[in-house]
Amino acid sequence: MKYTQIGKTDLIVSRICFGCWQLSPRFWGNISIEQWNIALERAMELGINFIDTADVYGDGMAETVLGEFLQSHKCRQKLIIATKFYWNFQDPDNRYPDTGYDYIIQECEASLKRLKTDYIDLYQIHSWDPLARPEEIAAALLTLKKQGKIRHIGVSNTNVHQMSMYLKHMDIECLQPLYNILDREIENEELPFCLEKKIGVITYSSLARGLLTGKYSKDQKFEDSRASHPRFTGENFKKILNAVDTFMKPVAESLGLTVAGLAIRWILTHPAISSAIVGIKKPEHIETVVKAADDVLERKLWHKLANEMKNACGT
Ligand SMILES: NC(=O)c1ccc[n+]([C@@H]2O[C@H](COP(=O)([O-])OP(=O)(O)OC[C@H]3O[C@@H](n4cnc5c(N)ncnc54)[C@H](OP(=O)(O)O)[C@@H]3O)[C@@H](O)[C@H]2O)c1
Repeated sequence: MKYTQIGKTDLIVSRICFGCWQLSPRFWGNISIEQWNIALERAMELGINFIDTADVYGDGMAETVLGEFLQSHKCRQKLIIATKFYWNFQDPDNRYPDTGYDYIIQECEASLKRLKTDYIDLYQIHSWDPLARPEEIAAALLTLKKQGKIRHIGVSNTNVHQMSMYLKHMDIECLQPLYNILDREIENEELPFCLEKKIGVITYSSLARGLLTGKYSKDQKFEDSRASHPRFTGENFKKILNAVDTFMKPVAESLGLTVAGLAIRWILTHPAISSAIVGIKKPEHIETVVKAADDVLERKLWHKLANEMKNACGT
């Protein structure tokens, strides 16, 4: 496994990050906690030291399951834990963004309790709150930092203008955006900004929720939230699967990678990217993707694949 420093922090993380959103039955259906635990054990054996979760994943369930793992495996110090706040989910059916001072302080305490730890390595603002007051958010986060409850501050789903507003009040060490070979909107603004400011970048939906794995057949039926997702139905779905089969599969084979591995290597080739988050349900998900971090793609091949996928999928 290769490791990298996140921005200007002292966090040295694996270039593949273990994503925990899959512990959210509302979005991903029920998954086996036993398999999930084995997957995290395997990930650690393979050198993964970086975990991404959020308070809202499974309405606290993902942090709780992770916290139990940390305690039973006595491995808190070996892992770098990133979590998030933003959604007030006290009433799960009526959640709303809450970035008020009191809520941030209270929700950080709740995350620490669920994670059975006394510090969070990277505390991320999950998204931009239309009612955000950056100076109020910064005051809460700097208080938590001073108390040693969080080590570093990150943001997610946040554009350059919004990051600049935060930077007037506090350091932001990491951005967590949507990025993969089908979703490249951040290449023009956010990625150059992060490179310039030395802000780390950790990508989510790195496999486009599984589309970039080459494993689905055209008649695959999804029983989770993907069932109603426009990319997972009708002609769109077929178009993407065809493109993955035609352009990504042969390249993956020639490099000795799985298609998922190639999708991750494509992301890690970008100089602004620190680590790619992969959503994991079972051990095979991590075992078949770790090799991606061994190397990067040649420049010509990176562009060729990007163009072929764009032309074929219209993304
Ligand atoms: N900040 C945010 O707003 C945000 C948003 C989304 C996600 N995230 C974070 O990013 C992580 C990943 O993003 P994501 O959940 O959208 O999913 P993703 O990583 O793009 O895709 C995950 C899905 O891909 C399949 N998969 C994973 N590894 C595989 C492998 N090696 N081989 C074959 N299939 C594999 C599985 O699909 P099947 O279920 O079909 O097996 C899995 O459920 C999340 O867990 C979360 O930590 C953050």
